[in-house]
Amino acid sequence: MNTEDARELLEEIDGYIENLFDTSDEVLEAILRDSRRGGLPEINVSPNQGRLLRLLIEIAGARRILEIGTLGGYSAIHLARGLPDDGELISLEIDEHHAEVARNNIERAALSAIVEVRVGDAHELLSDLIENGEGPFDLVFIDADKEGYPDYLDASLLLVRPGSLILGDNTIRGGTVLDPREDTALATREFNRRIAEDPRLGGIVLPLIRERIDGMTIAKVL
Ligand code: SAH
Ligand code: DHB
Ligand code: MG
Repeated sequence: MNTEDARELLEEIDGYIENLFDTSDEVLEAILRDSRRGGLPEINVSPNQGRLLRLLIEIAGARRILEIGTLGGYSAIHLARGLPDDGELISLEIDEHHAEVARNNIERAALSAIVEVRVGDAHELLSDLIENGEGPFDLVFIDADKEGYPDYLDASLLLVRPGSLILGDNTIRGGTVLDPREDTALATREFNRRIAEDPRLGGIVLPLIRERIDGMTIAKVL
């Protein structure tokens, strides 16, 4: 099978899973529509991946989540839906317009009571969280600029407890991590290597199927 055929088959399989589990709904679709209207890039997690995030939260019994990279709040809504009513999600976003669209979307999803979007450079916001003793979080979802991933991992390790999960999105970079030629692929390769080698972590990289860049790293703090 050639690469094009393989890609088509993988996308059909992703569609099959999406229909099987009915992974979207009106609120999620409205949110994607508003994000598109707001001119945001369409680089949110896929519906299936959103379901996986929610499932991981429910399995882990997470009550406090930290997200790095909010965009329009699509993944935040999947994450928050896995939380109990008194749970908490703090999501970090550098772009004020993205954050504003996200806040409106989160309001629409009736999740404003448990989701807080903080605007600023994640490097700085993470330092503040550490300094102010705002940890530990039960789950950290890293999905901002790929060059920042190794630093975000270091910061995350200061904001978790044994048993917490650290997730990294887009850690296959469409296969370019195999032979990295650009900074983003180099950084995600470094991120994956560190997770694999760090004795404080047990992890795996999950290849994910979607039309754009794929893959998610999942690690448990030992
Ligand atoms: N998690 C979102 C997608 C995030 S896209 C979802 O799946 O729905 C990546 C986001 O990270 C963008 O909104 C971008 O503005 C933001 N970002 C990029 N660099 C950042 C930084 N240094 N600090 C905080 N956010 C950053
Ligand atoms: C890109 C970023 C993402 O977080 C994503 O899920 C897909 C693509 C990107 O920068 O191209
Ligand atoms: Mg992503």
